[in-house]
Amino acid sequence: MPYEVQGVVSRAKGEPVSLETVLVPDPGPGEAVVNVRACGVCHTDLHYREGGINDDFPFLLGHEAAGVVEAVGEGVTDLEPGDYVILNWRAVCGTCRACKRGKPWYCFSTFNASQPMTLSDGTKLSPALGVGAFLEKTLVHSGQCTKVDKRAEPAVAGLLGCGVMAGLGAAINTGAVTRGDSVAVIGCGGVGDAAIAGAKLAGATTIVAIDRDDRKLDWAKDFGATHTVNSTDLTEAQVVEAMQDATRGFGPDVVIDAVGRPETWRQAFYGRDLAGTVVLVGVPTPEMRLDDLPLIDFFSRGGSLKSSWYGDCLPSRDFPMLVDLYLQGRLPLDKFVTERIGVDGVEQAFERMHRGEVLRSVVTF
Ligand SMILES: NC(=O)c1ccc[n+]([C@@H]2O[C@H](COP(=O)([O-])OP(=O)(O)OC[C@H]3O[C@@H](n4cnc5c(N)ncnc54)[C@H](O)[C@@H]3O)[C@@H](O)[C@H]2O)c1
Ligand SMILES: [Zn+2]
Ligand SMILES: [Zn+2]
Repeated sequence: MPYEVQGVVSRAKGEPVSLETVLVPDPGPGEAVVNVRACGVCHTDLHYREGGINDDFPFLLGHEAAGVVEAVGEGVTDLEPGDYVILNWRAVCGTCRACKRGKPWYCFSTFNASQPMTLSDGTKLSPALGVGAFLEKTLVHSGQCTKVDKRAEPAVAGLLGCGVMAGLGAAINTGAVTRGDSVAVIGCGGVGDAAIAGAKLAGATTIVAIDRDDRKLDWAKDFGATHTVNSTDLTEAQVVEAMQDATRGFGPDVVIDAVGRPETWRQAFYGRDLAGTVVLVGVPTPEMRLDDLPLIDFFSRGGSLKSSWYGDCLPSRDFPMLVDLYLQGRLPLDKFVTERIGVDGVEQAFERMHRGEVLRSVVTF
């Protein structure tokens, strides 16, 4: 018998989300049903609702979640009912070329549940990032469940399932920030502040936070920014100058773009030191273009231009480690939780995100 629960669905581009009855099948081979305890509201959920990811409406939103395994399907051996897990959206296959070469964070054929979750009339739902977790129970591939220490509360731990992991990993994994580095982070929402926290954890000595909102910059300081720049009235060249001013004229070793727009990427590209690294972790929309960037600038500035998918994380390696650092008081994951809301509050949470009032609203069950 399928489970019947209320989930947050985006039916059409740009329309407010609605709470709908969702049918969640019993787990099939390789699958698990998880009792979701908490799920954060990420900007990517809003991208889905706005049609910025693809057109596979209706979407079942929510993807930064933690919960407790309710049931597992045939052949699942490494997970059992009662296990406390963070859901991940990259269950690595172990057999593709990337996995075999020892770089599973690039896995080309990640797993999701094979059965669909549906509306009560049978319409198939597209779960956001292959998860779909703004509902009390969800169906995922067992590889999407990563066991972590139970003492980390779900509202906090779940954030590692997407945005906070993406930001931490953009700094630690993709940007390979290390002791003594200088770092700038453009866009200080949940992802950007996690990049700041990651840079601090890795030993960066200068961390420049750039945003258009002073509230965000205050939060950024709290996570470890040593310098803040409000870029609202600055030209691109002035943002570049501000990064250089904060780093004795050189520019940061690593600039992380946690906005994902052509202008912020150019600020990162020109702002970093010669041979520095750009990490693009914010997600651009399909129509965005980088026009007229002189090829000679790529050549003469050197360095590396990277994108960070999910912070190049490996959930089985990174989630338990980051939860342990949190429990030891070395990573303030709890500071990302601005508010706890009900499952009927997601649309209002999008509005608050849009107005810049929250780092993370977290739906708790
Ligand atoms: N790469 C990944 O794996 C991954 C994972 C999760 C989220 N993301 C993406 O990361 C981005 C950030 O997500 P979030 O949840 O932190 O969003 P958010 O809305 O909480 O934060 C965005 C921040 O950027 C600031 N901002 C916007 N335009 C700016 C500009 N031109 N200059 C400076 N600051 C600007 C806003 O004031 C805000 O503080 C989104 O694009 C999201 O889709 C990527
Ligand atoms: Zn693989
Ligand atoms: Zn997300």
